[in-house]
Amino acid sequence: MDSLRRRIRRLSPLAGLFGPMALVTPAALGGVGLITWGEVVLGTAILLLGTLTCLLGVGLWSLRRTVSELSTSVRTQTRKVTELLGQDRLELTRSLEGVRVEVGELRERTLPRAVTAITRAGARQGRQDYEQYVAWTELREYLDVAAFMPPLRGWAASPDVLRLLVRLIERDRPELVVECGSGASSVWIGYALRKVGTGRLVALEHDARYAELGRALVADHALEDVVEVRHAPLTRVPDDHADGVSAGVPWYDTEALSDLKGIGLVFVDGPPRATGPEARYPAVPALLPGCTDRVVFVLDDADRPDERSLGERWLAGHPELARTEEPTEKGAHVFTRTLAPAGTLGEPSSTLTPDPQPKREGRR
Ligand SMILES: C[S@@+](CC[C@H](N)C(=O)[O-])C[C@H]1O[C@@H](n2cnc3c(N)ncnc32)[C@H](O)[C@@H]1O
Repeated sequence: MDSLRRRIRRLSPLAGLFGPMALVTPAALGGVGLITWGEVVLGTAILLLGTLTCLLGVGLWSLRRTVSELSTSVRTQTRKVTELLGQDRLELTRSLEGVRVEVGELRERTLPRAVTAITRAGARQGRQDYEQYVAWTELREYLDVAAFMPPLRGWAASPDVLRLLVRLIERDRPELVVECGSGASSVWIGYALRKVGTGRLVALEHDARYAELGRALVADHALEDVVEVRHAPLTRVPDDHADGVSAGVPWYDTEALSDLKGIGLVFVDGPPRATGPEARYPAVPALLPGCTDRVVFVLDDADRPDERSLGERWLAGHPELARTEEPTEKGAHVFTRTLAPAGTLGEPSSTLTPDPQPKREGRR
């Protein structure tokens, strides 16, 4: 449209030139008497008409050129748009192909693998739930416990490791049991000690709030004469209990433990992992001097790398300890002090967790 306007504007000088000429020429001829005034009027009219016709012809020609240029431009733009659309479609087709390949991969490999893994995990969990249910039932039947017992598993010990502890209490009848990390287990251990009729439990608790809750729980079960929940805040352990490696990692304040003598069983279930790497390591160096010759340490959560590693350090630093691995839900390693030479009385003979194929390690 702009180009049409431009062309029309270009014709204006022509119109300006021929228009006056058409008016002036016949009048001049009439003025000098070469033609009559009637012929002047006729000639002017003819010349004006001719000028207008020429201008119209030139205008039409310009219009045709503009229309032709417009249609060329429309064709060019249409081709470009078509090309772009074609490219987009190509890219879309390619990415759809990629998606199709990924979906195929997902359907043929990833999904079946995930289904197998979920099925196996479900079966494993089902087995584990059944085993814990059996252990829970056995505990309830064996111990003369209250109708409403604190729940186990999760943050608390699992029934199978408690069954192991109850069997050790039954077998060794320790005078003093120490638990690192109080909670639901303190009550269950209390019932086990009450059943054998000897011994007491000191459950160490670093958190004042949980120590309070633990005492309330013990009181609810009327076990105060058997179970003491002792608040022992975490402090920097003395260097000789840190073995170099654990230097700086806090443990229960040893000042609060100085009276603990004749310990026959230790359940190591604290401090929590979040308090530092291999946080439970100091249990053996700190408590061993106050233990009996045949003391047993039960380390819970032994399937975790930290506990496995600190157990190795216990064995390396204390050759008198022998380890048995119990196949419990969270893994339990039992360390027995065997002051007698290997292969004689002190050697732990078997695992206490019913399992057809328990893992066992010899003395180191
Ligand atoms: C691994 S948990 C185990 C506690 C205990 N041996 C048991 O099995 O019930 C260790 C820490 O959990 C914390 N704890 C105690 N009672 C708790 C509760 N009801 N909920 C969450 N944490 C608790 C305490 O600080 C305790 O030292």
